[in-house]
Amino acid sequence: MFFMCLNVFKLLFFISLCFVGIRYWMQKKSYVFSADIVEEITLNHFGKNITVAYDDIYDEFLERFPGHVLPVEHRKWIFMNAGGWMGAIHILHASLTEYLLFFGTAVNTSGNSGRYWANISDTILTGSFRQWQEGALGSTIFLPGQTVYHYEWEAAAVEWTAGTWMVEYGRGCIPSTLFFALADTFTSTLDFVTLFYILRVYANALIMEAIAVIGDMVSMG
Ligand SMILES: *[C@@H]1O[C@H](CO)[C@@H](O)[C@H](O)[C@H]1NC(C)=O
Ligand SMILES: *[C@@H]1O[C@H](CO)[C@@H](O)[C@H](O)[C@H]1NC(C)=O
Ligand SMILES: *[C@@H]1O[C@H](CO)[C@@H](O)[C@H](O)[C@H]1NC(C)=O
Repeated sequence: MFFMCLNVFKLLFFISLCFVGIRYWMQKKSYVFSADIVEEITLNHFGKNITVAYDDIYDEFLERFPGHVLPVEHRKWIFMNAGGWMGAIHILHASLTEYLLFFGTAVNTSGNSGRYWANISDTILTGSFRQWQEGALGSTIFLPGQTVYHYEWEAAAVEWTAGTWMVEYGRGCIPSTLFFALADTFTSTLDFVTLFYILRVYANALIMEAIAVIGDMVSMG
């Protein structure tokens, strides 16, 4: 019994050490994007037909962050079910600590935002985004042109009306967010095709970032 407790204690100690280490690294490292630049680029194309806006936003990111945006052949909308809601994502960039994607839904949908080890911001292009924060007795509605912030470890109820489309930026421990993003696949939808698409695009994005990091090291050294 004593040894079992000791092992549990060692494990907990090891987990906290990892947590503190990753946290420190995430505070010190440099990032490709920032919430402000993502908002700025998104709003440069605000008011256009949504299909055109997304194409132009994609092109601007591609131009301003070469080597960090997935090439045209990986452009794909993928269904996503999580926290009871259903939407679609289109990933532009993903690494261990950042992601950039288009997100939205063509139906009215609502559910739990999820609690993440990441700060997430959403700049709305069309539709509406209702957020009910923990502890509040009312909800806030956000409209096109506004940016909604969702800070790490927070949870909220979220509701999007049909035809809500936005650009989302996340910064934090991205692999940890995948648990929430993929949980509904195992407990509800059993849509393993979607699971495959998400894992494949994430793998492609990670490979691209690894190449960018090696490229930076070579050019610096
Ligand atoms: C946006 O433009 C596309 C292609 O030109 C068109 O098919 C679509 O209906 C337009 N969407 C809206 C919401 O006007
Ligand atoms: C979605 O919800 C809005 C407002 O809550 C409602 O007016 C609209 O009819 C709904 N749309 C659909 C497609 O159900
Ligand atoms: C999230 O934002 C808060 C407040 O700006 C900051 O202290 C924290 O380090 C950020 N977390 C991540 C994972 O970037």
